[in-house]
Amino acid sequence: MSEVLICGGAGYIGSHMAQWLAEHGHSVTVLDNLSTGHRGAIRWGDLIEADLLDPAALESAFHGRSFDAVMHFCAKSLVGESVAEPYAYYANNVTGTLNLLEAMRRHEVNKLVFSSTAAVFGNPVSDVIDEEHPKAPINPYGASKLMAERFLADAAHAYGLRSVALRYFNAAGALPEHGIGEAHACETHLIPNVLRAALGQGPSLKIFGNDYDTADGTCLRDYVHVQDLAQAHALALGFMDRHEGAHTFNLGNGQGFSVHDVIATAASVSGVAIPYEVAPRRAGDPARLVASSDKARELLGWTPRWTELAPIIESAWRWHRDQPRWSPHHIHADASIQAA
Ligand code: UFG
Repeated sequence: MSEVLICGGAGYIGSHMAQWLAEHGHSVTVLDNLSTGHRGAIRWGDLIEADLLDPAALESAFHGRSFDAVMHFCAKSLVGESVAEPYAYYANNVTGTLNLLEAMRRHEVNKLVFSSTAAVFGNPVSDVIDEEHPKAPINPYGASKLMAERFLADAAHAYGLRSVALRYFNAAGALPEHGIGEAHACETHLIPNVLRAALGQGPSLKIFGNDYDTADGTCLRDYVHVQDLAQAHALALGFMDRHEGAHTFNLGNGQGFSVHDVIATAASVSGVAIPYEVAPRRAGDPARLVASSDKARELLGWTPRWTELAPIIESAWRWHRDQPRWSPHHIHADASIQAA
């Protein structure tokens, strides 16, 4: 069993990772600056409150502790925000990652699982995106993650770092039975916005463009359950025991669902007709983003359990439905509300 440091373990995907590792007998420590994560989401390990942009804080986080591996979820991850505030994205996602890698090197921690993203590919040039697809990010968020992937390749060569970068497509779902789910103070993602509209909370739902070259005119996305993402990270730990070098894998279910599909499925799961209006396209949205995860299935032995859209949305629905009326104030003030 491993001692794992989860950087960003108070966030949405990081908290599900902590739950998975604890359930499978690993020991977890969370490092988080709590800028978007939630103290109440840290249920499966101790918290080190530290910022990756503070090398002294990182030094003391590693000092006197012994980790077998690090999982790195700390990131700014909103595409639109990254276009408006590129320096913040490069500082956090690039410099922060570099600081973490340097602390790992100094303390001889030699294995890293890194959160990457479909945004490294930019506008797709094929219907299904495998790992060999050209990488041409079209926004600072994707560019910052691609730079960090490059660090990992260079670190493998120079320092013998073993790493796995996992490029998520659209992370979705929740584990309400464990009290964790998706709760961002500024929510931009489709499924939480649809569910909040179903609950009569939040702003009215907008469909960003219905004139794309798809069957119903709305964008297609590949939704993958956050617990399946956690499973892939855990498999990556074993993979790094057997393989040197820097490796990348795409994670998705391989099926594209439109914005209308998501709204219709959420309506059926919740039993609520969900009102929406059609708005102009959102800048930077590709029409279709669908993963090939054959490599992860073959080499990691990844077998997603949540392969249908309805159960993924249903898990998120149960999480959102059972929260007190949603507001950023609640999330930060009430430790009984978990996840970022
Ligand atoms: N959408 C709406 N209304 C909303 C929110 C989203 O119509 O209120 C649409 C978007 O325009 C898009 C689809 O729903 O067509 C999915 O949007 P999300 O914001 O939920 O997710 P993205 O596809 O934009 O994000 C994903 C990953 C990012 C990655 C990005 C690359 O989550 O990490 O793809 O384009 F950077």
